[in-house]
Amino acid sequence: MSSEQNIEFEVRPGGRLQGEIRVPGDKSISHRSIMLGSLAEGTSTVTGFLDGEDCLATLNAFRSMGVAIEGPDAGRVVVHGVGLHGLQPPEGPLYMGNSGTSMRLMAGILAGQAFDSELTGDASLSRRPMRRVTEPLRQMGAEIETSPDGTPPLRIRGGRPLHGIDYALPMASAQVKSCVLLAGLYAEGRTCVTEPAPTRDHTERMLQGLGYALERDSATICLRGGGRLQGRDIDVPSDISSAAFFLVGASIAEGSDLLLRHVGMNPTRTGVIDILRLMGADIEVLDPREAGGEPVADLRVRSAPLRGIAIPEALVPLAIDEFPALFVAAACAEGETVLTGAEELRVKESDRIQVMADGLVACGIDAEPRPAGIRLVGGSLHGATVDSHGDHRIAMSFAMAALRADGPIRIRDCANVNTSFPGFAELARRAGLDIEVLG
Ligand code: S3P
Repeated sequence: MSSEQNIEFEVRPGGRLQGEIRVPGDKSISHRSIMLGSLAEGTSTVTGFLDGEDCLATLNAFRSMGVAIEGPDAGRVVVHGVGLHGLQPPEGPLYMGNSGTSMRLMAGILAGQAFDSELTGDASLSRRPMRRVTEPLRQMGAEIETSPDGTPPLRIRGGRPLHGIDYALPMASAQVKSCVLLAGLYAEGRTCVTEPAPTRDHTERMLQGLGYALERDSATICLRGGGRLQGRDIDVPSDISSAAFFLVGASIAEGSDLLLRHVGMNPTRTGVIDILRLMGADIEVLDPREAGGEPVADLRVRSAPLRGIAIPEALVPLAIDEFPALFVAAACAEGETVLTGAEELRVKESDRIQVMADGLVACGIDAEPRPAGIRLVGGSLHGATVDSHGDHRIAMSFAMAALRADGPIRIRDCANVNTSFPGFAELARRAGLDIEVLG
């Protein structure tokens, strides 16, 4: 398990980010390309696939259920779909590693299979809440068990007939929305989900791209069970959540001028750009275009003086994974930044409010965690040792903080950077970060 390896980053202060880079493929779209490609009829060739550990967990799970998958080879994966009813029983539990997306989306798919299955995960995933998916799945007729406190492993009984439901999501979560829609593929009748706020819509886009009929009426998305998916080629853009570290790094490091190529610009994901611009960042969107049913663009970011803001709550779900990096931007901004309405951050790969507050306080920043957000006052960042708690996004955010620190920042427990961003240290070094990987 990667999180048990002792990898540390040592990032020396100063420097600036320059040149042109392309960050790896989008994690959310990569997961879905394997899942929906496997359930489709015919072949899907995926390019730009993220070969990070999270997406490989999904890929390996479908291989263990009998799907022939070639690659990944330099981002190319060929999925030989078996159709919605072609999965075979796996020999043992399916191990999802650190990946909440794999577990929650696959729970929906597995609830509709004829065979029993079990989903397990690493120490972090084994602490994360799963009732948010088991609850609607049970309403649909699934038989599915968590541990007594509602966490993994998930044990799913096969052969239970599912029926469509009309489900109002209690929280803005693309994972829960996707889980219910995927179970809906196997349900009798119509399944509808209503979102309290827009969340990433990659599942809906890819279902439609593979020929599945879907109805959307403002916040409600509906589909009928019993259809078919048709395999096709899928081009995965670069992950805006990975680009976010560089957007923040180049914004805070004086003299930076960086071009990020082929970044996914799905409007349900671009909150980080909106928030950084409200803080005064200089981000240009160049050559907007479409690739594989998703908007993409090149992003040019130049350093700019940032100011603290009250982050609009409507942007929270649209930037949900980018807050660790945004907190670093706020620590380098003039004045106070306040985040509210973000309690979901407490149940990510780590408690991202507490872990970021602890690290920033260690660096000399005034950071006050709150139940559903944080208050941060920009100031001088000092060198320090911080603990990422095995959270990839915390590790990469503190690496960027070193650009503005007065001494080295040492970051513990960084092995999980490989879950979403293999090659981060090398790419960041190429752009100008003075980073060393230890252990
Ligand atoms: C994801 C949805 C988000 C996000 C996660 C990926 C997805 O989770 O944090 O990294 O691919 O659907 P929630 O749905 O729990 O907000």
